[in-house]
Amino acid sequence: MAQGNNYRRMIFTWSFEKAHRALPPQPRADRAPMPHHSLAKQRLLIKGGKVVNDDLSVMADVYVEDGVVQQVGPNLNPEPLTGLVVLDATNKLVIPGGIDTHTHMQFPFMGSRSKDDFYTGTKAAIAGGTTMIIDFAIPQKGCSLIEAFDTWKSWADPQVCCDYALHVAVTWWSDKVKEEMKSLVQNKGVNSFKMFMAYKDVYMVNDEELYAAFSSCKELGAVAQVHAENGELIAQGAKKMLAMGITGPEGHELCRPEEVEAEATQRAITIANAVNCPLYIVHVMSKSAAKVISRARRQATPLSKGNLQTVAACYSCVSVSNFSAAKYTTGKVVYGEPIAASLGTDGTNYWNKDWAHAAAYVMGPPLRPDPSTPGFLMNLLANDDLSVTGTDNCTFDICQKALGKDDFTKIPNGVNGVEDRMSVIWEKGVYSGKMDENRFVAVTSTNAAKIFNLYPKKGRIAVGSDADIVIWDPKATRTISAKTHHQANNFNIFEGMVCHGVPVATVSRGKVVYEGGAFNVTAGEGKYVSRPPFPPYVYERVRQREQVCQPVPVKRAPYTDVVSETSATPN
Ligand code: URP
Ligand code: ZN
Ligand code: ZN
Repeated sequence: MAQGNNYRRMIFTWSFEKAHRALPPQPRADRAPMPHHSLAKQRLLIKGGKVVNDDLSVMADVYVEDGVVQQVGPNLNPEPLTGLVVLDATNKLVIPGGIDTHTHMQFPFMGSRSKDDFYTGTKAAIAGGTTMIIDFAIPQKGCSLIEAFDTWKSWADPQVCCDYALHVAVTWWSDKVKEEMKSLVQNKGVNSFKMFMAYKDVYMVNDEELYAAFSSCKELGAVAQVHAENGELIAQGAKKMLAMGITGPEGHELCRPEEVEAEATQRAITIANAVNCPLYIVHVMSKSAAKVISRARRQATPLSKGNLQTVAACYSCVSVSNFSAAKYTTGKVVYGEPIAASLGTDGTNYWNKDWAHAAAYVMGPPLRPDPSTPGFLMNLLANDDLSVTGTDNCTFDICQKALGKDDFTKIPNGVNGVEDRMSVIWEKGVYSGKMDENRFVAVTSTNAAKIFNLYPKKGRIAVGSDADIVIWDPKATRTISAKTHHQANNFNIFEGMVCHGVPVATVSRGKVVYEGGAFNVTAGEGKYVSRPPFPPYVYERVRQREQVCQPVPVKRAPYTDVVSETSATPN
C-alpha cells in the first residue's frame, strides 16, 4: 500500500492508544465482546483535512466526543489536551464512512454458507472505509420473518465490528407475514423488505404476492426492494443449457440474459407504481435493467385533472405538448443499486478457461459479458439515474464453488466487494472524471442514509452526526489482491486492479478502528441501528403523488336515456 504511516500525531500518551497500536490483526478466536463503557468519553480531533459531504466540501477540523461529532470548523482547539487523540488529515479528504446497502454475511445458501461472517465481513468493511452494512434476514418459505430477524441479529450482535441494520426478505405470503411485517417495522426498527423474483421454489414470489407485499410496504412506510430476474425463465433456460451440454459457469449467464433482468425490473416497477409504493432495485447488473430504471425515474405520470389548479403552483409539472390539457409529474419513486462487482468487472470472466476462475464470478443476476457494462452503469450512477451502491457481498471460496463443478446451477451464487467498494468507485467514478468527490459521498453513504432513514446521523459529517468517518487519501494507490485482502475467501474478483483512493484511517462511532493497515476492532462493538418508517426522502414524494396523481371521476350529468334490457343468455 503506497501510503504514509506517519500522519497521525498523539498529543498525550494514552493507555488505550498504546494498547491499540500494539494490537496485531486479531485472530478469529480472539473475539471477546468489548464492554461498551470502554467507548465512553473518547475524544478525537481530525485536523487539517477537507470535509466532504454530498453537497459541500470545506476545509475544516472535526471534533468528536462520545462517538458523536461535536464541532466542524477551522482551527479547532478543544480542551483539555489530555486524552485527546489527534489524526492529521492534511492533504486528505474527511468523508462520511461508507454504508454498504447490501451484504450477506454467514448466509446459509445453496447448500453452503457464505464465508465472511459478521466479524470478518465487518472488519474487511472497515479496512475499505465502510462503517455500516445492511444485511438481509431471509426466512425459508413458510417460516416466520420475526424468527429470521432474531436469528440474523443473534449472529450479528456478538460479531460485528461496525454498525449494522437488517433488511428482511418476504419469501411467501399470508396474513401472518403481513402481521409480522408490521411488527418488524413497529418493534424492530426494520423499514425495508426484499422480495425475490428469482430462485424458483426457494425464495421466489409471484406477481400477486409482490402486489400484496408492495401494498403492505406502502401502508407501513417501508421501502420495497426486489431481486429482479424472471425466475421462471431462469429455470427453463437452465434446463435448456444443461441439455445442450453446457454445464460450466458460462451457462449461468446464458440461461439468464439481460432481458430476463430487464423484464423483471419493468414488471416490479409497474406493480409497485400501481400501489404507489417506493421501489428499490437491488444489484443492478445490466445496461438493459439500468435503462428501465432510468426511464422510470424520468417517465411522466399524469396528474389527476381535478387537481391541476391546486398543484400547478407548488409542484414541478411539465406540460406535454401533444396532450395539452394534461400535466405530469416527473419520475417514479424508484432507486437503482449497482454494486461494486457490476461497476468494477464484467461477465467475460464466465468464459475463462480456468473453471475455478470462472466460477468465482457466479452471482445472480450475473455479471454481463458486454465489457462496456461497468462504464455504462457508472455513467448512470454519476448522473443520478442510479442512486446508491452496495456490494451483495456473499463470499464462497473455490472449494465451496466446486459444489457446482459439473452443473453450474449448483455453484453457490455470490462474490466479494465489501472491502473494495469504496476504492473501486473512486477509481472508476472519480479518478476517471465521471463524478466529483461530493457525488462519491452521495452514492457511497448519503443517499443510502436518506433512503433507509438513517440521515443525518449517518451519511453526513455535521454536528450531531455519528462519528463514522474515513480519512481518504485520493492520491494514494493500492492494488487489490486476495493475498492482502481481509475477507475470508481465497479469491478476489478485482484481483490486480490498481485503485487510486485509499482509506488511511477509519473511525467508527468516534473510535479509530483502522489506521495505516492496523486494526483496533473488537467483535460485538458495532451496534444494531433501528430505522424508523416513512423516510422523508422517499415518502414525502410518495405522499405528494398520492394527493396529486389520484384519478378522479369525470363530473357529468347522469345518463337518462334507454338501457337495453336484452338478456345475455340465449333462450
Ligand atoms: O448471487 C447473489 N446475489 N447471492 C446472494 C443472494 C442474492 O440474490 O442477493
Ligand atoms: Zn438478490
Ligand atoms: Zn443479495
